[in-house]
Amino acid sequence: MKKKLLTCFLAVITLQSWAQKSPEIPIKKVIEIAEQQFSDFVKIYPDTTRYMRSTKTDGTLGLTSASDWTSGFFPGNLWYMYLLTGDKKWEQLARKWTQGIETNRNNTRTHDLGFMMFDSFGLGYQITKDPAYKPILLDGAKALSTRFHPEVAAIRSWDNPKFTYPVIVDNLMNLEFLFWATKQTGDSSYYKIAVQHADTDLKYRFRPDNSSYHVLDFNPATGKLLKRMTHQGYADETCWARGQAWAIYGYTTLYRETKDKKYLDQAVKAADYFLMQTDKISDHIPYWDFQAPDIPNAPRDASAAAITASGLFELSKYVAKDKNYFIKAKQLLSSLTSDKYLAKHGTNNYFLTMHSTGHKPNGSEIDVPIVYADYYLLEALYRLKNYSTISF
Ligand code: GLY
Repeated sequence: MKKKLLTCFLAVITLQSWAQKSPEIPIKKVIEIAEQQFSDFVKIYPDTTRYMRSTKTDGTLGLTSASDWTSGFFPGNLWYMYLLTGDKKWEQLARKWTQGIETNRNNTRTHDLGFMMFDSFGLGYQITKDPAYKPILLDGAKALSTRFHPEVAAIRSWDNPKFTYPVIVDNLMNLEFLFWATKQTGDSSYYKIAVQHADTDLKYRFRPDNSSYHVLDFNPATGKLLKRMTHQGYADETCWARGQAWAIYGYTTLYRETKDKKYLDQAVKAADYFLMQTDKISDHIPYWDFQAPDIPNAPRDASAAAITASGLFELSKYVAKDKNYFIKAKQLLSSLTSDKYLAKHGTNNYFLTMHSTGHKPNGSEIDVPIVYADYYLLEALYRLKNYSTISF
């Protein structure tokens, strides 16, 4: 009898610690809040060419235009709502809000066309196979590829004259768009550009501890690396949390698209660095920079947590279970969907998540809701909900 009781007791303890490690995520609750917040937004702001971006310093909603790097995320949120609910209402809204992004199809002034076009038209095409979306996307991929410079063997990020030829970690996120273009057209030039960019990135991006630099600046005449520095992080030698999140997600995508193990190895190393840092924080949500001087009072960046959670669900499919990435992703989601980070209906300027940080050194978007945190949260929830059947 005693032995039975002890076995029962141990089973309860094991279950409790498993539940703590692998918490239940309230997917339904988040969808309900998203339905309310986004329905209110589209009713009150019917101009489908003005996209929600973040909360301004005066507390009001900041909208932005199609040419902003974040424009594709709100249409993307609507596509994810369609995927998560199956309700045609969201497909109709997603279509309407996607249309305005078309003005970027020949835009060669930005490297962010992946964010802008692939998360809106691209997701829409994946879901609906609408033939009208394909030529728009292919024009966008062509425009993005014009920013590739063979000497540097990378796509140029910003045109900002403060830099010579900047290549930022965020740019890894735009490569999936190029892989897609090769698959659609059979033209391998997009694939080759993406792989050359990735190899240049891999060569210089990481410190020996696998934390990432934000900006690599090159001499375009020689292809030589001039400087490694930050722009949105605290200092050149500290690690900007969202940059590390882009690296985890970006190298995971690179492995998926190429099956080259060196990208998988780097995704794992970048993830392990991120998790080593967030394991020190009780709710696992990173500070905006892992070495911010005012930790534990430094602002958080919920967007970095959401990007990483979504990336880890995919990465967990490519590595041994003992890496625990599935559970780690759920731990991040557990915090993001708690009252501390998830807004209540009617608050938070129609956004879902609170406490993201956009550009701290610039004094902008500090500890506010930002649209891409919501996008990657919804993507992560979709990946979790369909984990056993999803193919990336
Ligand atoms: N791509 C810009 C950022 O992550 O803030």
